[in-house]
Amino acid sequence: MIDFKQNISEQISKITNLPQEEIYEYIEVPSDEKMGDFSFPCFKLAKALKKAPQMIAEDLKQKLEFKENIMQKVEVVNGYLNFYIEPEVYASTVLNEISQKNENYGKSDIGKGKTITIDYSSPNIAKPFHIGHLRSTVIGNALYKTYKFLGYNCVGINHLGDYGTQFGKLIEGYKRWGTEYNIEEKPIDELTKIYIRINNLCKEDESVLEECRNNFKKLEDGDKYCVDLWTKFRELSLKEFQRVYDLLDVTFDSWNGEAFYSDKMQEVIDILDEKKLLKESEGARVVSLDDKDMPPCIIEKTNGSTTYATRDLAAILYRARTYDFYKALYVTSYEQILHFKQIFEVAKDLNLDEKYTDNLVHIPFGMILSKTGKMSTRDGNVIKLEELLNEAISRVEKIIEEKNPNLENKEEIAKKIGIGAVIFNDLYNSRIKDEIFDWDTMLNFNGETGPYIQYIYVRTKSLLDKAGYIPKIEEIDSSKLTDINSSRVIKLIYGFSDSVKQSAEKYEPYIIARYLVHLAQSFSSFYNENKIIGEEKAIQDARLYLTYAVGNILKIGAGLLGIKMPDKM
Ligand code: ARG
Repeated sequence: MIDFKQNISEQISKITNLPQEEIYEYIEVPSDEKMGDFSFPCFKLAKALKKAPQMIAEDLKQKLEFKENIMQKVEVVNGYLNFYIEPEVYASTVLNEISQKNENYGKSDIGKGKTITIDYSSPNIAKPFHIGHLRSTVIGNALYKTYKFLGYNCVGINHLGDYGTQFGKLIEGYKRWGTEYNIEEKPIDELTKIYIRINNLCKEDESVLEECRNNFKKLEDGDKYCVDLWTKFRELSLKEFQRVYDLLDVTFDSWNGEAFYSDKMQEVIDILDEKKLLKESEGARVVSLDDKDMPPCIIEKTNGSTTYATRDLAAILYRARTYDFYKALYVTSYEQILHFKQIFEVAKDLNLDEKYTDNLVHIPFGMILSKTGKMSTRDGNVIKLEELLNEAISRVEKIIEEKNPNLENKEEIAKKIGIGAVIFNDLYNSRIKDEIFDWDTMLNFNGETGPYIQYIYVRTKSLLDKAGYIPKIEEIDSSKLTDINSSRVIKLIYGFSDSVKQSAEKYEPYIIARYLVHLAQSFSSFYNENKIIGEEKAIQDARLYLTYAVGNILKIGAGLLGIKMPDKM
């Protein structure tokens, strides 16, 4: 595809003798289309050229020469050079690229040979998979797919919370009352009850707490009874989590949770010890981070057991060695910002190459709130993710029953729309913002929602179905696509890969989500303003091809977010 920015920067670089890459970076896409398709702020060169921006602009305008009539006009406005691409060239460039790449349109290999580990989802064994984990799962999955699309080798890691002193308690509770609870049937619910009960007993009776601590010690030492029980709790919980992952269609390359690092933490302690970085503090062993204005990072607790932080440090060593990562990403709520700041700081003391320790990235996100405040059920319990996803599906089933009762494959379609709505809602805003969870908003087929994107996609499909063919690219006359509505769609299509790259660079799936809304909206205007079927053949073909292109990109983009497209709805 012609890279217009490349073209412009080459020209400017030739005239000014300044480095082309630098000029390329300065070129902007104006938010107001009246200011052209691309614009170049000449004040950026004022220092190097020792001239006023306006003069630079005038001078460049005189000397610029573009090949093959790609430029309709160049204008000077307030020290900016505004470039207007010839609409017909724009159209043929974009559509030719679509015809060559189809479902790979926008794909790139900029990440070739680089590995990115993405630590996401990571729920805790024997505890509910709650709505907070939804965000981690959905954001992590979108980043995984986006980076993969850009050619990176991605390793998705579910860093399960499957270790820690709470397992000593669970084992003790199960030992005492296991027969009273049906943990096979409802593992998480029942284990939670056991946990609450034993915790209460511990508060009353110090000796029980002692027993719990012993159990955890035994678990660490490989005692068969304790290990068997722990394994059982883990497997039952995972089975339950898997139902959620199936609904969302999310997979992982590694399920190495915290327990995996139980025999890998000694090395961390030894290194820190050897460097004399471990200080005694109220019986615990900590690394002081005073000089970084942070509280100390606790490596060993008073009773000698290790911590969440120690396991994360061991995981950094392991991931650097095993995956030789280019970047290691961690997707969790903003409540863990301090934790990651601390461990990333301590990681610098683990004798790792800087190429690893400089590329540890925490990707925090905000809370999910209901319209009235915190998300919880009527009786104050946390809402479970599986129930929530199933509710989304059944709400969509009801809507379909009202609007289109004869639709085939209703169940499957309701699943795509319901799940898609939840995912899209989660990704539509900058991730650090708290998310408002409101059924009516996210299921609005005319709003800025998942169902809207799917609806427009289905429209493109049914248009092509109605026509009965997809025109051949050789037969497309791109001069038929120069009206304002077609042009807007074409420019958006041109910008797709830029949006994908930006979304990856900033770890912000919302950039793709918003792009899709704009594309769907501009297609909708194009479609409302332009008759397609029944027009003169050349116009019909050109418009149909554009329709095909839009459908294609909506599907690719939604796929990057983890959203599936129904063919009908
Ligand atoms: N299990 C943790 C939680 O539920 C999240 C783990 C995130 N990953 C990590 N490497 N610490 O809060």
